[in-house]
Amino acid sequence: VATVTNVSANNNNNNNKNLATDPWMNAQSSPEQRARILMSHMTSEEKRSMLYGTGDGEKHANYVGNVPAIPRLNIPALKYNDGPQGFRDNAMLGSTTAWPSGLTVAASWDTETMRTWGEAMGKEFFDKGANVQLGPGVCVARIPRNGRNFEYLSGEDPHLGYILVQPVINAIQGQQVVANAKHYVNNNQETNRHFVSENVDERTRFEMYYPPFKGAIEAGVGSMMCSYNKINHIWSCENNSTLMTDLKTRMGFKGYVMSDWGATHSLSIEQGLDQEMPLNKSFNQESLKTIPQYIIDDTVVRILTPFFQVGTFDNPNPNEISNNVTSVEHVEIARELSENSTILLKNDEEALPLKAHNLKVAIVGTQAWNPIVHGGGSGEVVPAWVKPPLWSICDILGVERIDGSTSGSSNCNAGNGNCVTYYDGTDSPPPSVSSEFDAAILFIQTTSSEGSDRTNLTFGTSQEEMVTKWSAVEGKFFKKILVMSTPGAVLTPWSDRLHGMLLNFMPGQAMGDAITNVIFGEVNPSGKLPLTFPNKENEQEMTESQYPGLDNAGNATYTEGFFFGYRWYDKHKVTPKYSFGHGLSYTTFSYGKLSISGRTISCDITNTGEVYGSEVVQLYVGFSDQKFGSDQREEPVKQLKGFEKYYLSPGESITATLTLTDRDLSYWNVDSKSWSLKVGKADISVGSSSSDIRSNGVMNVQ
Ligand code: BGC
Repeated sequence: VATVTNVSANNNNNNNKNLATDPWMNAQSSPEQRARILMSHMTSEEKRSMLYGTGDGEKHANYVGNVPAIPRLNIPALKYNDGPQGFRDNAMLGSTTAWPSGLTVAASWDTETMRTWGEAMGKEFFDKGANVQLGPGVCVARIPRNGRNFEYLSGEDPHLGYILVQPVINAIQGQQVVANAKHYVNNNQETNRHFVSENVDERTRFEMYYPPFKGAIEAGVGSMMCSYNKINHIWSCENNSTLMTDLKTRMGFKGYVMSDWGATHSLSIEQGLDQEMPLNKSFNQESLKTIPQYIIDDTVVRILTPFFQVGTFDNPNPNEISNNVTSVEHVEIARELSENSTILLKNDEEALPLKAHNLKVAIVGTQAWNPIVHGGGSGEVVPAWVKPPLWSICDILGVERIDGSTSGSSNCNAGNGNCVTYYDGTDSPPPSVSSEFDAAILFIQTTSSEGSDRTNLTFGTSQEEMVTKWSAVEGKFFKKILVMSTPGAVLTPWSDRLHGMLLNFMPGQAMGDAITNVIFGEVNPSGKLPLTFPNKENEQEMTESQYPGLDNAGNATYTEGFFFGYRWYDKHKVTPKYSFGHGLSYTTFSYGKLSISGRTISCDITNTGEVYGSEVVQLYVGFSDQKFGSDQREEPVKQLKGFEKYYLSPGESITATLTLTDRDLSYWNVDSKSWSLKVGKADISVGSSSSDIRSNGVMNVQ
C-alpha cells in the first residue's frame, strides 16, 4: 500500500483577502449572501460559463467534470469526480482506496459507520484536489436485478436511505468537498436507462423514492444529479414537476442540479436543471443568452452557495489529482467498514466462529485468491492491491501463505496444529474431504455494473456447481461455511446444506482481513440486510410492463405502488428466503415489552449470550385495514420508521428508545400537496428483522 503524499493543507487564506475588493470573502455573511455578492460582480459571460462543463480533458489535467476557474474573481475551477464509493482515478490506478460500496455500508444500519465512510472518502477527494464528489448514490432498490443496486445506500427502503444518507453528506462536506446525491430520480434500472420512462405516480414518488433525497437536503447537500431516464414521459433533466415543483419547491432543495453525463436534452434551465455535464450541447454561451438574466443569476447563486458552505473559497484546495491519497490507515478503515457491514445470514449448530486452534480447513473457490471487491462502471475504484482472504486466513491461523494462483490444491501446516488447503473449486471435492478437514470455507462472488442489469440472481454455472458439490459433502464433524460477495440480492438454493453463511456485498479492498476477522470471531457480525433475498427469480411477479417495461422497454410502469421488497412479501404472506433487516450475531438478544408514551417507543434489550455484540433494533409501523388520501390506497402491513444500533456486553441491558415524527406517521396528500397525519390506530412492532418481530403495541395517532 502506497503512502500518502502531498495531502491537504488547511491553509486559511481568508485572512489575506481584501474585503474592500472581494466583499464576498466576508465570512460573517451567509454562504448564500456571499454567493449573491460574488455573482453580482460577475460579467454575463462569466455567469454563463458556470452553467456547463468543459469535458474531462487530458488525463491527469482534469477530472470527470470540469468548470473552468475565473481567476479575475478568485473563483476556483470546479472539479468533479466519481464516484459514490471512492475516488475513481483510471489514469493512476491504485492511488485511492477502494471502499465498500454504498449498499454494503448500508448493511451496517449504523450512522457512525456511514459518517466514517463519508469522511474517509471526502478526505481522499480533497487530497486529490476535487471539490465535488459524484456521490453518494441513494436510489431505492425497486428491481433486484438493477445493475447499480450495489452503489445505492438505501437498499429497498426509503426510510433506511433517509437516515443513512445524512451522516454521509455531513461527513463528505465536512472535508470541504460538495456531495452529490444521485440519480434524481427513479433511476431504478439500467436496462434502457437512456430512454426508459419510469411512470410513477406522485404519492409513490413522495413516499417511496424521494425520502433519501429529502434526507440529503436536510443534511445540506450542495448538489444533485438528475438521471438519464424519463419520469412520466419527460426527461429527468427537463422535468419541471420532479425538479422545479417537487425538489426545489416542495422539498426545499437550495443547491444545484447537474445533469448526468449526457442526460441533458434541451436548454432546460427553467425546468430546474442548473448545469449541463460534461459538455455544452444545450447549455452554452449562445443558447443561454436567450434566458432572462434573473434566472441565470439565481442559477449561479445556487451553484456558488455550496462552495462557500463547504469552505472552497475560504480554504482553497491546493491538491493535485496526481497525489497518491490511499494509506495504511485508510485501508484499516476500509476493513472496519466491511466488518461492520458483514451479515451472518445463517449459523446452524453455532458453526461460526471457527476456532483458530487445531483447525484443518479447506478454502475453496477462486474468490478466496482473486476476489472481486467492487461493482463496475463509474463507481468502480481499482485498488493498488487486494490481500486475498486465503492469505488473511493463513495469517490468522499462523500458517505459511499459500499461492492460490495454481489450480488444484496446495496446503500448509503450522506448529499450532492448523492446516490450510486451497482448492480452486473446478474439480469435485476429494472423497476423503470430510474426514480430513474440520471445515470447508467456500468463497463465491458475483458482480454487476452500471449500464446493464443482471440477467439473473445466480452466481453462474461453475460457481453454482462448486457450491452444489461441496455443500453435498456430509461428515459428522465437517462444517460447511459459505462467504458470498454480491452486488445485491442472490438466490441461495443450496443454503439448507450449509452450516454458516456470510455476506459482505461489494466489500472493498480490505475484504480479506475483514471477513477473516468475522469467520474467526475477532469481530462479531452485526450487519442486517438492506434488501430482501428472494426464494426465486422474479418472486414478486413483476410484469413486463413493470420491468423492464413495454414498448421495447420505453415504459416501465410502477403499478405496484408501495408493494415491492418486504412490503410485497408482507402483503402476499410469502416468506422470503432472507428477510429485510435480517442478520444474526454470535450472541443473542432478548427484547422486553414495548412501552409507548406519546410518540416514543421504548423496549429493553439484553445481550443474553456469551460475547460482546451489537443489535439493530428495528421499529415498524403499520395501519392495517385503514386507508388514507383521496386514492384510498391500501397501506403496507408495516414500514420501517426507526432503527438504532446498540452495543452490549454479555448480560448487559439497555432501554432502546425510538421516537416517531409527524412525517413518519403521515402520507403524501396529493390534494393538499403536503404531508397529512394518518389519524388512526398504528400497529407498532419492534424486532430484529422485518420477519422477526419481538414486541408489539398500538399507538393512537391524533
Ligand atoms: C453515471 C454517473 C457518473 C457519470 C460520470 C454516468 O454514466 O451514470 O453516475 O457520475 O457517468 O462519470
